[in-house]
Amino acid sequence: MTTLKDHREPVAAGHGDGGYVELRSDTFTLPTPPMLAAAVAAPLGDDVYGEDPTVARLEELAAGLLGKAAACLMPSGTMANLTALLAQCPRGAKAIVGRESDIYVYEAGGASMCGGIVYEPLPNLPDGTIDLADLEEALAVDRTDPQFALPALVSLETPQNRCGGLPLPLGHLAEVAELTRRHGAALHLDGARLFNAATALGVTPAEIARHADTVQICLSKGLCAPIGSVLAGDRATIAAARRMRKLLGGGMRQAGVIAACGIVALTEMTGRLAEDHENAARLARGLAGLPGVLLDPGPPRTNMVFFRVGDERYTTRSFIEAARHLGVRVEELGHGRIRAVTHAGVPAEAVDRAVGAFAELLRPDAPLREAGRALPAVPTAVRGDMSAKSGDTTAVPGDTSAKPGERP
Ligand SMILES: Cc1ncc(COP(=O)(O)O)c(C=O)c1O
Repeated sequence: MTTLKDHREPVAAGHGDGGYVELRSDTFTLPTPPMLAAAVAAPLGDDVYGEDPTVARLEELAAGLLGKAAACLMPSGTMANLTALLAQCPRGAKAIVGRESDIYVYEAGGASMCGGIVYEPLPNLPDGTIDLADLEEALAVDRTDPQFALPALVSLETPQNRCGGLPLPLGHLAEVAELTRRHGAALHLDGARLFNAATALGVTPAEIARHADTVQICLSKGLCAPIGSVLAGDRATIAAARRMRKLLGGGMRQAGVIAACGIVALTEMTGRLAEDHENAARLARGLAGLPGVLLDPGPPRTNMVFFRVGDERYTTRSFIEAARHLGVRVEELGHGRIRAVTHAGVPAEAVDRAVGAFAELLRPDAPLREAGRALPAVPTAVRGDMSAKSGDTTAVPGDTSAKPGERP
Protein backbone atom coordinates (compact mmCIF):
# COMPACT_ATOMS: atom_id res chain seq x y z
CA MET A 1 0.00 0.00 0.00
CA THR A 2 1.21 3.50 -0.75
CA THR A 3 0.19 6.60 1.13
CA LEU A 4 0.92 10.11 -0.01
CA LYS A 5 2.40 11.06 3.32
CA ASP A 6 4.88 8.16 3.17
CA HIS A 7 6.62 9.79 0.24
CA ARG A 8 8.97 12.67 0.55
CA GLU A 9 8.48 13.22 -3.14
CA PRO A 10 5.07 11.80 -3.95
CA VAL A 11 5.36 11.16 -7.64
CA ALA A 12 5.24 7.37 -7.75
CA ALA A 13 4.67 4.37 -5.62
CA GLY A 14 7.73 2.50 -4.58
CA HIS A 15 10.75 4.52 -5.54
CA GLY A 16 13.29 5.85 -3.15
CA ASP A 17 15.82 4.46 -0.70
CA GLY A 18 15.18 0.84 0.07
CA GLY A 19 11.92 0.83 -1.91
CA TYR A 20 11.23 -1.20 -4.98
CA VAL A 21 11.54 -0.03 -8.56
CA GLU A 22 8.03 0.20 -9.99
CA LEU A 23 8.19 -0.44 -13.72
CA ARG A 24 4.81 -2.11 -14.25
CA SER A 25 3.10 1.03 -15.49
CA ASP A 26 3.16 4.82 -15.48
CA THR A 27 -0.30 4.54 -13.89
CA PHE A 28 1.54 4.06 -10.57
CA THR A 29 2.63 7.70 -10.55
CA LEU A 30 1.32 9.70 -7.61
CA PRO A 31 0.07 13.29 -7.71
CA THR A 32 2.84 15.86 -7.24
CA PRO A 33 2.83 18.36 -4.34
CA PRO A 34 1.73 21.21 -6.68
CA MET A 35 -1.21 19.05 -7.76
CA LEU A 36 -2.27 18.43 -4.19
CA ALA A 37 -1.92 22.14 -3.40
CA ALA A 38 -3.96 23.02 -6.49
CA ALA A 39 -6.68 20.53 -5.53
CA VAL A 40 -6.98 22.13 -2.08
CA ALA A 41 -7.12 25.68 -3.48
CA ALA A 42 -9.40 24.99 -6.47
CA PRO A 43 -12.67 26.95 -6.79
CA LEU A 44 -15.43 24.34 -7.00
CA GLY A 45 -19.01 24.01 -8.14
CA ASP A 46 -21.39 21.27 -9.26
CA ASP A 47 -20.10 20.07 -12.59
CA VAL A 48 -23.30 18.21 -13.50
CA TYR A 49 -24.87 21.69 -13.47
CA GLY A 50 -21.87 22.83 -15.55
CA GLU A 51 -20.83 25.11 -12.69
CA ASP A 52 -17.39 23.93 -11.64
CA PRO A 53 -14.99 26.68 -12.78
CA THR A 54 -11.88 24.51 -12.38
CA VAL A 55 -13.34 21.79 -14.61
CA ALA A 56 -14.25 24.45 -17.17
CA ARG A 57 -10.66 25.75 -17.06
CA LEU A 58 -9.20 22.29 -17.58
CA GLU A 59 -11.56 21.53 -20.45
CA GLU A 60 -10.70 24.79 -22.18
CA LEU A 61 -6.99 24.23 -21.66
CA ALA A 62 -7.13 20.67 -23.03
CA ALA A 63 -9.26 21.64 -26.01
CA GLY A 64 -6.77 24.40 -26.84
CA LEU A 65 -3.74 22.09 -26.56
CA LEU A 66 -5.43 19.54 -28.80
CA GLY A 67 -6.71 22.10 -31.31
CA LYS A 68 -10.35 21.13 -30.79
CA ALA A 69 -13.42 23.27 -30.17
CA ALA A 70 -14.56 21.50 -27.00
CA ALA A 71 -13.48 18.99 -24.38
CA CYS A 72 -15.03 17.03 -21.53
CA LEU A 73 -13.36 15.73 -18.37
CA MET A 74 -13.86 11.98 -17.93
CA PRO A 75 -13.16 9.78 -14.91
CA SER A 76 -11.00 7.41 -16.97
CA GLY A 77 -9.54 6.70 -20.38
CA THR A 78 -11.91 3.78 -20.70
CA MET A 79 -14.92 6.06 -20.27
CA ALA A 80 -13.44 8.65 -22.64
CA ASN A 81 -13.04 6.00 -25.34
CA LEU A 82 -16.47 4.51 -24.66
CA THR A 83 -18.31 7.85 -24.76
CA ALA A 84 -16.49 8.72 -28.01
CA LEU A 85 -17.79 5.52 -29.57
CA LEU A 86 -21.30 5.88 -28.13
CA ALA A 87 -21.50 9.47 -29.36
CA GLN A 88 -20.46 8.61 -32.91
CA CYS A 89 -21.82 5.13 -33.60
CA PRO A 90 -25.55 4.32 -33.77
CA ARG A 91 -26.67 0.92 -32.44
CA GLY A 92 -25.81 -1.84 -34.88
CA ALA A 93 -22.98 0.17 -36.47
CA LYS A 94 -19.45 -1.13 -36.53
CA ALA A 95 -16.35 0.40 -35.01
CA ILE A 96 -13.12 -0.63 -36.70
CA VAL A 97 -10.36 -1.04 -34.13
CA GLY A 98 -6.83 -2.43 -33.92
CA ARG A 99 -6.59 -6.04 -32.76
CA GLU A 100 -3.96 -4.90 -30.25
CA SER A 101 -5.76 -1.75 -29.13
CA ASP A 102 -6.67 -0.99 -25.55
CA ILE A 103 -10.25 -0.39 -26.66
CA TYR A 104 -10.49 -3.91 -28.04
CA VAL A 105 -8.34 -5.85 -25.57
CA TYR A 106 -8.73 -4.15 -22.19
CA GLU A 107 -12.01 -2.23 -22.08
CA ALA A 108 -14.45 -5.03 -21.32
CA GLY A 109 -16.25 -4.83 -24.66
CA GLY A 110 -18.03 -1.70 -23.42
CA ALA A 111 -19.18 -0.44 -26.82
CA SER A 112 -20.95 -3.73 -27.56
CA MET A 113 -22.34 -4.01 -24.06
CA CYS A 114 -23.58 -0.44 -23.73
CA GLY A 115 -24.09 0.70 -27.30
CA GLY A 116 -24.92 -2.34 -29.42
CA ILE A 117 -21.83 -1.52 -31.46
CA VAL A 118 -19.96 -4.24 -33.36
CA TYR A 119 -16.17 -4.18 -33.06
CA GLU A 120 -14.32 -5.13 -36.22
CA PRO A 121 -10.74 -5.80 -35.16
CA LEU A 122 -8.04 -5.42 -37.82
CA PRO A 123 -4.49 -6.69 -37.33
CA ASN A 124 -2.00 -4.13 -36.10
CA LEU A 125 1.28 -4.28 -37.99
CA PRO A 126 4.38 -4.54 -35.75
CA ASP A 127 4.77 -0.73 -35.74
CA GLY A 128 1.18 -0.29 -34.52
CA THR A 129 -0.23 0.87 -37.85
CA ILE A 130 -3.11 -0.75 -39.71
CA ASP A 131 -2.79 -2.00 -43.27
CA LEU A 132 -4.71 0.45 -45.46
CA ALA A 133 -5.96 -2.34 -47.73
CA ASP A 134 -7.49 -4.08 -44.70
CA LEU A 135 -9.04 -0.80 -43.63
CA GLU A 136 -10.45 -0.08 -47.07
CA GLU A 137 -12.03 -3.53 -47.15
CA ALA A 138 -13.61 -3.02 -43.72
CA LEU A 139 -14.95 0.41 -44.67
CA ALA A 140 -16.14 -0.30 -48.19
CA VAL A 141 -19.40 -2.07 -47.43
CA ASP A 142 -22.36 -1.62 -49.76
CA ARG A 143 -24.45 0.84 -47.77
CA THR A 144 -27.55 0.00 -49.79
CA ASP A 145 -27.34 -3.69 -48.86
CA PRO A 146 -29.31 -4.28 -45.64
CA GLN A 147 -27.14 -7.25 -44.67
CA PHE A 148 -24.18 -5.26 -43.46
CA ALA A 149 -23.35 -3.51 -40.22
CA LEU A 150 -22.39 -0.04 -41.37
CA PRO A 151 -18.95 1.29 -40.40
CA ALA A 152 -19.36 4.46 -38.34
CA LEU A 153 -15.95 4.89 -36.75
CA VAL A 154 -12.29 3.92 -36.96
CA SER A 155 -10.14 4.05 -33.85
CA LEU A 156 -6.36 4.32 -33.73
CA GLU A 157 -4.09 4.36 -30.67
CA THR A 158 -0.90 6.39 -30.30
CA PRO A 159 1.50 5.48 -28.87
CA GLN A 160 0.33 1.93 -29.60
CA ASN A 161 0.87 0.30 -26.24
CA ARG A 162 0.89 -3.41 -27.16
CA CYS A 163 3.04 -2.67 -30.22
CA GLY A 164 5.97 -1.49 -28.11
CA GLY A 165 4.60 1.94 -27.19
CA LEU A 166 5.52 3.19 -30.65
CA PRO A 167 4.10 6.52 -31.82
CA LEU A 168 2.14 6.21 -35.04
CA PRO A 169 3.75 8.15 -37.90
CA LEU A 170 1.84 11.33 -38.75
CA GLY A 171 1.65 10.20 -42.37
CA HIS A 172 -0.27 7.10 -41.27
CA LEU A 173 -2.74 9.19 -39.30
CA ALA A 174 -3.28 11.39 -42.36
CA GLU A 175 -3.85 8.39 -44.65
CA VAL A 176 -6.24 6.70 -42.25
CA ALA A 177 -8.14 9.98 -41.74
CA GLU A 178 -8.50 10.49 -45.48
CA LEU A 179 -9.72 6.94 -46.10
CA THR A 180 -12.06 7.02 -43.10
CA ARG A 181 -13.68 10.30 -44.16
CA ARG A 182 -14.01 9.16 -47.77
CA HIS A 183 -16.21 6.36 -46.44
CA GLY A 184 -18.28 8.66 -44.23
CA ALA A 185 -16.92 7.38 -40.91
CA ALA A 186 -15.36 9.26 -37.98
CA LEU A 187 -11.80 8.83 -36.73
CA HIS A 188 -11.23 8.48 -32.99
CA LEU A 189 -7.77 8.57 -31.48
CA ASP A 190 -6.97 6.87 -28.18
CA GLY A 191 -4.15 9.14 -27.11
CA ALA A 192 -3.86 7.87 -23.56
CA ARG A 193 -0.18 8.83 -23.81
CA LEU A 194 -0.51 11.38 -26.63
CA PHE A 195 2.04 13.70 -25.01
CA ASN A 196 4.59 10.87 -25.09
CA ALA A 197 3.88 10.45 -28.81
CA ALA A 198 4.23 14.20 -29.36
CA THR A 199 7.51 14.21 -27.43
CA ALA A 200 8.85 11.27 -29.44
CA LEU A 201 7.85 12.81 -32.77
CA GLY A 202 8.92 16.34 -31.82
CA VAL A 203 5.52 17.82 -32.71
CA THR A 204 2.74 19.54 -30.79
CA PRO A 205 -0.18 17.46 -29.50
CA ALA A 206 -2.46 19.39 -31.87
CA GLU A 207 -0.42 18.25 -34.87
CA ILE A 208 -1.30 14.67 -33.94
CA ALA A 209 -4.88 15.34 -32.85
CA ARG A 210 -5.80 17.34 -35.96
CA HIS A 211 -6.22 14.14 -37.96
CA ALA A 212 -8.92 12.80 -35.64
CA ASP A 213 -12.51 13.84 -35.05
CA THR A 214 -12.26 12.91 -31.39
CA VAL A 215 -9.20 12.34 -29.23
CA GLN A 216 -8.83 11.19 -25.66
CA ILE A 217 -5.84 11.90 -23.43
CA CYS A 218 -5.13 10.43 -20.00
CA LEU A 219 -3.99 12.75 -17.22
CA SER A 220 -3.34 9.85 -14.87
CA LYS A 221 -0.45 8.07 -16.58
CA GLY A 222 2.95 9.67 -17.17
CA LEU A 223 1.49 13.10 -16.37
CA CYS A 224 1.02 12.00 -12.72
CA ALA A 225 -2.54 13.18 -12.04
CA PRO A 226 -4.39 10.75 -9.76
CA ILE A 227 -7.59 10.49 -11.83
CA GLY A 228 -8.96 11.65 -15.12
CA SER A 229 -8.93 11.77 -18.88
CA VAL A 230 -10.22 14.33 -21.35
CA LEU A 231 -12.16 13.73 -24.54
CA ALA A 232 -11.90 16.50 -27.15
CA GLY A 233 -13.65 17.12 -30.46
CA ASP A 234 -16.21 19.41 -32.06
CA ARG A 235 -18.92 20.96 -29.89
CA ALA A 236 -21.78 18.73 -31.00
CA THR A 237 -19.85 15.49 -30.54
CA ILE A 238 -18.56 16.52 -27.13
CA ALA A 239 -22.09 17.49 -26.06
CA ALA A 240 -23.25 14.02 -27.12
CA ALA A 241 -20.32 12.40 -25.27
CA ARG A 242 -21.15 14.45 -22.16
CA ARG A 243 -24.65 12.98 -22.27
CA MET A 244 -23.16 9.48 -22.57
CA ARG A 245 -20.86 10.21 -19.62
CA LYS A 246 -23.93 11.00 -17.48
CA LEU A 247 -25.70 7.89 -18.70
CA LEU A 248 -22.72 5.78 -17.67
CA GLY A 249 -22.64 7.32 -14.20
CA GLY A 250 -19.65 9.52 -14.95
CA GLY A 251 -21.29 12.85 -14.16
CA MET A 252 -19.22 14.23 -11.29
CA ARG A 253 -20.06 16.97 -8.82
CA GLN A 254 -17.11 18.96 -7.34
CA ALA A 255 -14.81 17.49 -9.96
CA GLY A 256 -12.62 20.59 -9.80
CA VAL A 257 -10.61 18.68 -7.19
CA ILE A 258 -9.58 16.29 -9.96
CA ALA A 259 -9.43 18.94 -12.66
CA ALA A 260 -7.01 21.05 -10.61
CA CYS A 261 -4.52 18.17 -10.70
CA GLY A 262 -5.19 17.80 -14.42
CA ILE A 263 -4.35 21.46 -15.03
CA VAL A 264 -1.00 20.98 -13.30
CA ALA A 265 -0.49 17.79 -15.33
CA LEU A 266 -0.98 19.66 -18.60
CA THR A 267 0.96 22.77 -17.66
CA GLU A 268 3.88 21.36 -15.63
CA MET A 269 4.33 17.69 -16.44
CA THR A 270 4.43 17.29 -20.21
CA GLY A 271 7.90 18.82 -20.56
CA ARG A 272 9.54 16.13 -18.41
CA LEU A 273 8.32 13.16 -20.47
CA ALA A 274 11.54 13.35 -22.52
CA GLU A 275 13.36 12.29 -19.34
CA ASP A 276 11.18 9.15 -19.14
CA HIS A 277 12.02 8.38 -22.76
CA GLU A 278 15.75 8.79 -22.05
CA ASN A 279 15.41 6.48 -19.06
CA ALA A 280 13.57 3.91 -21.18
CA ALA A 281 16.44 4.05 -23.69
CA ARG A 282 18.91 3.66 -20.82
CA LEU A 283 17.01 0.63 -19.54
CA ALA A 284 16.86 -0.87 -23.04
CA ARG A 285 20.61 -0.44 -23.52
CA GLY A 286 21.23 -2.16 -20.19
CA LEU A 287 18.87 -5.01 -21.03
CA ALA A 288 20.26 -5.48 -24.53
CA GLY A 289 23.68 -6.16 -22.99
CA LEU A 290 22.39 -9.07 -20.88
CA PRO A 291 22.60 -12.70 -22.02
CA GLY A 292 19.36 -14.09 -23.46
CA VAL A 293 17.47 -10.76 -23.49
CA LEU A 294 15.76 -9.78 -26.70
CA LEU A 295 14.14 -6.36 -27.08
CA ASP A 296 10.85 -6.91 -28.87
CA PRO A 297 9.94 -5.00 -31.04
CA GLY A 298 13.29 -3.24 -30.55
CA PRO A 299 14.61 -0.06 -28.94
CA PRO A 300 11.89 2.06 -27.30
CA ARG A 301 10.60 5.31 -28.79
CA THR A 302 8.60 6.41 -25.74
CA ASN A 303 8.57 5.27 -22.10
CA MET A 304 7.99 1.57 -22.66
CA VAL A 305 10.52 -1.21 -23.03
CA PHE A 306 9.29 -4.62 -24.15
CA PHE A 307 11.57 -7.64 -23.93
CA ARG A 308 11.76 -11.41 -23.83
CA VAL A 309 14.05 -13.53 -21.70
CA GLY A 310 15.45 -16.58 -23.44
CA ASP A 311 17.03 -18.35 -20.49
CA GLU A 312 16.00 -21.93 -19.84
CA ARG A 313 16.13 -21.37 -16.08
CA TYR A 314 13.03 -19.15 -16.34
CA THR A 315 9.55 -18.94 -17.72
CA THR A 316 8.26 -15.42 -18.29
CA ARG A 317 6.29 -15.69 -15.06
CA SER A 318 9.13 -17.04 -12.94
CA PHE A 319 11.45 -14.32 -14.23
CA ILE A 320 8.91 -11.65 -13.27
CA GLU A 321 8.54 -13.21 -9.82
CA ALA A 322 12.30 -13.50 -9.35
CA ALA A 323 12.73 -9.84 -10.33
CA ARG A 324 10.04 -8.94 -7.82
CA HIS A 325 12.01 -10.70 -5.10
CA LEU A 326 14.96 -8.48 -6.01
CA GLY A 327 12.77 -5.37 -5.69
CA VAL A 328 11.97 -4.73 -9.35
CA ARG A 329 8.38 -4.84 -10.53
CA VAL A 330 7.64 -5.58 -14.16
CA GLU A 331 4.70 -7.35 -15.76
CA GLU A 332 3.86 -9.37 -18.82
CA LEU A 333 2.05 -7.46 -21.53
CA GLY A 334 1.07 -9.08 -24.76
CA HIS A 335 2.43 -12.16 -26.51
CA GLY A 336 4.65 -13.39 -23.69
CA ARG A 337 6.71 -10.21 -23.55
CA ILE A 338 7.70 -8.37 -20.40
CA ARG A 339 6.97 -4.65 -20.28
CA ALA A 340 8.90 -2.08 -18.25
CA VAL A 341 7.53 1.47 -18.16
CA THR A 342 9.55 4.46 -17.03
CA HIS A 343 7.91 7.44 -15.36
CA ALA A 344 8.43 10.22 -12.85
CA GLY A 345 8.99 7.72 -10.04
CA VAL A 346 11.88 5.99 -11.80
CA PRO A 347 14.97 8.19 -11.88
CA ALA A 348 18.08 7.05 -13.77
CA GLU A 349 19.56 5.48 -10.59
CA ALA A 350 16.47 3.30 -10.24
CA VAL A 351 16.83 2.22 -13.87
CA ASP A 352 20.41 1.20 -13.10
CA ARG A 353 19.23 -0.72 -10.05
CA ALA A 354 16.72 -2.56 -12.20
CA VAL A 355 19.37 -3.44 -14.79
CA GLY A 356 21.60 -4.66 -11.96
CA ALA A 357 18.82 -6.91 -10.65
CA PHE A 358 18.11 -8.34 -14.12
CA ALA A 359 21.86 -8.94 -14.61
CA GLU A 360 21.99 -10.77 -11.28
CA LEU A 361 19.14 -13.07 -12.34
CA LEU A 362 20.74 -13.84 -15.70
CA ARG A 363 24.29 -14.44 -14.46
CA PRO A 364 25.44 -17.71 -16.04
CA ASP A 365 26.32 -19.10 -12.60
CA ALA A 366 23.19 -17.77 -10.88
CA PRO A 367 21.18 -20.49 -9.12
CA LEU A 368 18.20 -22.10 -10.80
CA ARG A 369 15.25 -19.86 -10.02
CA GLU A 370 12.24 -21.90 -10.97
CA ALA A 371 9.12 -20.41 -9.43
CA GLY A 372 9.26 -20.95 -5.71
CA ARG A 373 12.78 -22.45 -5.67
CA ALA A 374 16.08 -20.81 -4.78
CA LEU A 375 14.53 -17.37 -4.62
CA PRO A 376 16.36 -14.74 -2.62
CA ALA A 377 14.75 -13.27 0.49
CA VAL A 378 12.02 -10.74 -0.16
CA PRO A 379 13.14 -7.20 0.73
CA THR A 380 11.03 -5.93 3.63
CA ALA A 381 9.99 -2.91 1.56
CA VAL A 382 7.88 -5.13 -0.66
CA ARG A 383 6.60 -7.62 1.91
CA GLY A 384 2.87 -7.59 2.46
CA ASP A 385 1.91 -7.04 -1.14
CA MET A 386 2.97 -10.17 -2.90
CA SER A 387 -0.25 -11.13 -4.61
CA ALA A 388 0.67 -12.57 -7.98
CA LYS A 389 -1.99 -11.46 -10.41
CA SER A 390 -1.00 -13.20 -13.63
CA GLY A 391 -1.55 -16.73 -14.77
CA ASP A 392 1.13 -18.89 -16.34
CA THR A 393 2.72 -17.02 -19.14
CA THR A 394 5.01 -19.00 -21.29
CA ALA A 395 5.15 -17.32 -24.70
CA VAL A 396 2.71 -18.72 -27.22
CA PRO A 397 3.76 -17.73 -30.73
CA GLY A 398 0.92 -16.10 -32.61
CA ASP A 399 -1.25 -15.92 -29.52
CA THR A 400 -2.90 -12.51 -29.59
CA SER A 401 -4.96 -12.85 -26.44
CA ALA A 402 -4.22 -10.91 -23.30
CA LYS A 403 -3.26 -12.79 -20.16
CA PRO A 404 -5.05 -12.60 -16.83
CA GLY A 405 -3.64 -9.79 -14.76
CA GLU A 406 -2.23 -7.71 -17.59
CA ARG A 407 -2.75 -4.00 -16.91
CA PRO A 408 -2.16 -1.44 -19.64
C1 LIG B 1 -3.74 3.05 -24.57
C2 LIG B 1 -4.70 3.11 -23.42
N1 LIG B 1 -5.95 3.55 -23.64
C3 LIG B 1 -6.85 3.62 -22.66
C4 LIG B 1 -6.53 3.24 -21.38
C5 LIG B 1 -7.60 3.26 -20.32
O1 LIG B 1 -7.36 4.23 -19.35
P1 LIG B 1 -8.00 4.07 -17.88
O2 LIG B 1 -7.17 3.08 -17.17
O3 LIG B 1 -7.91 5.45 -17.33
O4 LIG B 1 -9.40 3.62 -18.06
C6 LIG B 1 -5.25 2.77 -21.09
C7 LIG B 1 -4.91 2.35 -19.72
O5 LIG B 1 -3.82 2.03 -19.39
C8 LIG B 1 -4.31 2.70 -22.15
O6 LIG B 1 -3.07 2.24 -21.95
